[in-house]
Amino acid sequence: MIERIAELRADAEAAIAAASTSAELEAQRVRYLGRKAELPNVLRTIAQLSPEQRGPTGKAANQARQALEALIAQRSGQLEAGELEQRLQTDRVDVTLPGSPPQPVGRHHLLTATRREIEDVFMGLGFKIVEGPEVESVYYNFDALNFDVTHPTRGRADTFYVQRPEARLAPLALRDQDAGQDAPRGTPYSDVLLRTHTSPMQLRAMELEPPPLYIIVPGRVYRRDSDATHTPQFHQIEGLAVDEDITLADLKGTLLAFARAIFGPDREVRLRPHFFPFTEPSIEVDVSCFMEHAASERCRVCRDTGWIEILGAGMVDPNVFGYVAEHGYDPERVQGFAFGMGVERIAMLKHRVPDLRLLYDNDVRFLEQFG
Ligand code: PHE
Repeated sequence: MIERIAELRADAEAAIAAASTSAELEAQRVRYLGRKAELPNVLRTIAQLSPEQRGPTGKAANQARQALEALIAQRSGQLEAGELEQRLQTDRVDVTLPGSPPQPVGRHHLLTATRREIEDVFMGLGFKIVEGPEVESVYYNFDALNFDVTHPTRGRADTFYVQRPEARLAPLALRDQDAGQDAPRGTPYSDVLLRTHTSPMQLRAMELEPPPLYIIVPGRVYRRDSDATHTPQFHQIEGLAVDEDITLADLKGTLLAFARAIFGPDREVRLRPHFFPFTEPSIEVDVSCFMEHAASERCRVCRDTGWIEILGAGMVDPNVFGYVAEHGYDPERVQGFAFGMGVERIAMLKHRVPDLRLLYDNDVRFLEQFG
């Protein structure tokens, strides 16, 4: 038995020395020291030997195992160091070299390209671009825009409310009460929310700067809405012009210039009466259809009506000026117009995108067609 152990030990030593990769070494470890290997088996059967054999055999087997384990550890250290060195050599990247082949620079996302196109049109008309916060107060999003407290948009079914940190720490009973079942329709959950439109920036801009004011406000807005034509987050561009002697004709002329710049020089616009709490009168604006109309087929864009709704607008309600009167916006002296459009909608109409979700899937095969 002792000779067999010596033999195994010699074989294993040779095999370990000969292993030239960590994988090979591991294979040898399993072969000589693994659960089914001979040497560990000898150790397991020592108890069955006669008392005089037990001592020397056990000792030899144990020594052999320990010696082999030490050898393996040592050899493994050497091999791994060599392998790491080799990986470092072959994986070396010279970051100062130009890309090979040079990568294309890419393009703007259709939404970004559309936003910029619209911004360009209004900058050309003398508007400047300002941006506002996406987390907004009920005051700017609703109250100062003349929304009645019972307006359904204020409800939690339509709007994402944000809890202040203090409110989150409040005892549960208090919070339940806050979110009360029997609260009247439209009762806000908190006084902070994700803005539902870019219109709050009308007020913030007027607070910051006296008239005349000509601004557009691009940005993200949020509503509890999700289907083929609505996403909970989308993009709007707001417009606001305040000056003396501004009329609805100025609004119409501005929007006609916009429609022609975006949808083609032959476009016309049409105003239809509508309602927004912060404009009076309020209108919805249609642009004449820009598709080729075949007699045989119904137009999928305008459904043969000849008109496509593109945005909401109106003359700024004097009540809104009332909230910023001390900043130079005397409702008796200044007038203004405002409009708001969805960037997604403009992009989809202009490029005939059939499903809103394509704009967010980020499939390059779709994105590569634009920009
Ligand atoms: N804020 C309105 C909306 O989101 C659009 C709008 C803006 C209407 C400005 C009139 C004036 O629906």
